[in-house]
Amino acid sequence: MDFILLGPPGAGKGTQAKLMIDKWAIPQISTGDILRAAVREGTPLGVEAKDFMDRGELVPDRVVIGIIAERLKKKDAAAGFILDGFPRTIPQAEALQEILDELNRGIDHVVSIEVDDEELVTRLTGRRMCKECGESFHAVFNPSAKEGVCDRCGGDLYQRDDDKEETIRQRLAVYSRQTQPLIAYYEKKGKVRRIDGTGSIEDIFKRILDAVGK
Ligand code: AP5
Ligand code: MG
Ligand code: ZN
Repeated sequence: MDFILLGPPGAGKGTQAKLMIDKWAIPQISTGDILRAAVREGTPLGVEAKDFMDRGELVPDRVVIGIIAERLKKKDAAAGFILDGFPRTIPQAEALQEILDELNRGIDHVVSIEVDDEELVTRLTGRRMCKECGESFHAVFNPSAKEGVCDRCGGDLYQRDDDKEETIRQRLAVYSRQTQPLIAYYEKKGKVRRIDGTGSIEDIFKRILDAVGK
């Protein structure tokens, strides 16, 4: 099963991907998580990506397409994957199609999670994220059992550098300009299911299961 999770910053892509991993035992592939790990490790990729990420802009297509081309060839993705935060532009979607064609596979489901901007800002300003596994918590809506510690893996929680209100607004603008057109792109292919991303995390997961017929 090959999935794409679409949705604006804070829609819950990462949160829902973790539930999907548990259910289907296929990996979450988050370009954001891969880029943040590269920034932390100070690799050339991280050095190139950091300024774009701090400004709330997209990292150049060629960089993220290269990451995905490598990642999708790994063994653990053979039975399926959940793409979280990729593709984000039409050229990325076209490149993905070529990569998948070469691997003789295709996207089965595109789920677009929809939440309005003010709710997204509230979610992101209160987010706490795990340094180790990328799990998202929220100081008020979804707190970890022990403050500052990840429920899933025991890693330390932190606030992302791009979760400042000004940067969040920029990310939302970038989403509507560069990523939202992908909904129409995949609608033309008859693949998209749009779901309401508000309500409890469990309810949204049920909507995803319904949308993909599981
Ligand atoms: P990325 O890491 O992908 O960030 P994003 O798209 O901005 O999305 P987020 O991770 O912020 O949100 P999410 O939907 O995962 O929400 P979450 O589940 O955490 O990208 C970061 C940057 O990397 C980009 O700006 C760009 O620079 C670069 N980049 C990445 N991919 C790229 C690409 N393909 N091309 C170019 N550049 C790329 O939830 C958010 C919060 O809400 C949490 O606190 C959570 O606990 C809470 N929450 C979740 N569900 C609910 C609910 N139902 N009710 C209440 N609160 C909830
Ligand atoms: Mg995320
Ligand atoms: Zn963790």
